[in-house]
Amino acid sequence: MTTPGLTTPALRVAGIAKRFGALTALREINLEVGKGEVLGLIGDNGAGKSTLIKIICGYHRPDAGQIFVNGDEVVLRSVDHARSLGIDTVYQDLALVNELSVYHNMFLNRELVRWPLLSNRTMRRRAEEHLKDMGVDLPDVTVEVAKLSGGQRQAIAVARSVYSDAKVLLLDEPLAAMGAKEGTMILDLIRDLKERGEVSVIIIAHNYAQVLDVCDRVNLLQHGEITFDKRSRDTSLEELTELVVAEYRGGRRRRHK
Ligand SMILES: Nc1ncnc2c1ncn2[C@@H]1O[C@H](COP(=O)(O)OP(=O)(O)OP(=O)(O)O)[C@@H](O)[C@H]1O
Ligand SMILES: [Mg+2]
Repeated sequence: MTTPGLTTPALRVAGIAKRFGALTALREINLEVGKGEVLGLIGDNGAGKSTLIKIICGYHRPDAGQIFVNGDEVVLRSVDHARSLGIDTVYQDLALVNELSVYHNMFLNRELVRWPLLSNRTMRRRAEEHLKDMGVDLPDVTVEVAKLSGGQRQAIAVARSVYSDAKVLLLDEPLAAMGAKEGTMILDLIRDLKERGEVSVIIIAHNYAQVLDVCDRVNLLQHGEITFDKRSRDTSLEELTELVVAEYRGGRRRRHK
């Protein structure tokens, strides 16, 4: 694990703010993820987690603040631009093209560019090898993605990002609405990544036990800011749950004022 502060973080954001009309979604976000580190981002519904991820992946422009990749400031112009800098995102439903086969999806937009002359047979074989390598268990890579479950699609999207040159991988609720088998598949993928230590991951999840299980560090997003930053080994399920319950009680008090 990378100790924050000792080396340049793979990704750092400073003073990020984002408004949607009258609503302030993010006030001042400061966050970093070390090389090879897995950071869990938690927070209430509507706290702004997805908005932050969408800023880091180049989808939304922030109103204020800076983004640094390997210590260099970048101004992200688009999702493609962020991807070219090694920042990749996995959304459950947007990531894949439903009408194409699993193996075509594996090569979509990326590997086809790098190796334009790959035959279908080669792509198919490489996709099979890679998915097997990553422990993603699918009966047939020629099947259309539309025929797979949400969890299987998610596993393929994660595997594809890992296969690409992603240096920072953003996972927005990869375990939501997922069966035990696919959930385990994703968690295993993340653990594999961690062992290889090549990719930094920010993962949004509501299941704190899973967060503590798979993440090196946890950040809590509250009132548009990061209000809690601890290594997983220095916190507990009880502490995280208590933070959120305290916020709920505080929110009720505010509403009743
Ligand atoms: N495109 C948008 N236009 C207007 N408001 C938005 C937009 N996207 C998000 N918001 C608002 O910004 C706030 C933060 O939303 P966001 O989706 O980032 O929350 P979240 O932490 O991901 O919540 P959840 O855990 O429910 O996914 C919410 O109040 C939401 O309604
Ligand atoms: Mg969200």
